[in-house]
Amino acid sequence: MEIKAIRGFNDILPDEIGKWQFVEKTAREVFEGFGFSEIRIPILERTELFARGIGEATDIVEKEMYTFADKSGNSLTLRPEATASMARAYLEHQIYTFDPVAKFYCIGPMFRYERPQKGRYRQFYQIDAEVFGVDNPMVDAEIIVMLIHFLERVGLEKLELQINSLGCRKCRPRYRQEIINFLKKKSFQLCEDCQRRLETNPLRVFDCKVETCQAAIVDAPKVIDFIDRECQDHFGKVKEYLEAAGLTYILNPRMVRGLDYYTRTAFEVVSYQLGSQNAVTGGGRYDNLFQEIGGPDIPGIGFAIGMERLISLLPKDKVFIQHPHLFIAVLGDETIKKAYQLINQLHLEGIRAELDYEGKSLKSQMRRADKLKARYVLIMGEEELKKGRAVLRNMEDKSQEEIPIEGLLNALKEKVRRKV
Ligand code: HAM
Repeated sequence: MEIKAIRGFNDILPDEIGKWQFVEKTAREVFEGFGFSEIRIPILERTELFARGIGEATDIVEKEMYTFADKSGNSLTLRPEATASMARAYLEHQIYTFDPVAKFYCIGPMFRYERPQKGRYRQFYQIDAEVFGVDNPMVDAEIIVMLIHFLERVGLEKLELQINSLGCRKCRPRYRQEIINFLKKKSFQLCEDCQRRLETNPLRVFDCKVETCQAAIVDAPKVIDFIDRECQDHFGKVKEYLEAAGLTYILNPRMVRGLDYYTRTAFEVVSYQLGSQNAVTGGGRYDNLFQEIGGPDIPGIGFAIGMERLISLLPKDKVFIQHPHLFIAVLGDETIKKAYQLINQLHLEGIRAELDYEGKSLKSQMRRADKLKARYVLIMGEEELKKGRAVLRNMEDKSQEEIPIEGLLNALKEKVRRKV
């Protein structure tokens, strides 16, 4: 039986890869321009990191992690997100002793055992950016400005930035109690999971997709009405800085985010072109995460962009496929060696050239060149070669010219580069 990929794990095929490379390249350019440096972290971590960082009573930790014991019996987990790992690396290497402010980004696969559907996979890619060490609201705005600038640079349109404030360790307990009191009166409407969550993590009811649960929270108290003075001031400044940067946002008082580490600013960028999985980016501030994973009191803020969702929104008319600059059509056994030498030289010069390996007829070689959308075809026939010449055909305007073999490399380089 043919072996197939695991459900929810996708291949990214060569004809799609241009989009991925374009997005990654733009992210690197934009983020590095904003002073961020790349960090690469392991795909496997100790389970405890996520259990403590993301929160035991979140959907991710409760039911979506790929967790297993290694041969020594350690409980390990395929990273479901990058924030906790980046914070761990920052602590482990004591990067804060060198400079209290760190700006990192990371690109790579994450793993969550979710029910696969359009826009939701079990292996998916994120572009993640984090700022550690500052709780100034200016940084909250700055990182959102970077995000929106990046999304616009790759060509995304009609996005909506939603923001909320989730309060802090001091003011959240009051809100939590308020929500518990409110939901207890509606508990008959809640699904089994939410009835349990009522005790463990009542805020998660907001994320529940079950209709009766959604109906139960329609008039629920809003976190924004319970945040203390300091959190209000912080949020007020974030909004001011966003406005000063010319960004428009929507206040979404129901956005609580699915990970427990968030404090104060929370945000999402959604696209209504995406259907039910409409969040392209999720992020926020997490001023207690470092302490949760055993570190000092260090604030942080960041976001993660879902690459599959972003790529599905790229403009359809943009061309990402790299076609060959040149196809070498070879006629006769004598010529093949010459063509082989030439193509090697072209490749060393970074010119994308293709050759027929199978001794096919000129007609079928031309058909292949056409299919590959090669810009030029160099026809190397025995007769022409004897005269020290070859024919170069421009596949766009169909013009042909005979050019001398001598200096062929330079002539080709010149022509091809002219349009690169
Ligand atoms: P998150 O909201 O869980 O946040 O994920 C961020 C983004 O990753 C989502 O908006 C979505 O685009 C994408 N995503 C999540 N799950 C899937 C999936 N199963 N399939 C496809 N795409 C998915 C975080 O992960 C936080 N670490 C973000 C963050 C960084 N907060 C602060 N810093």
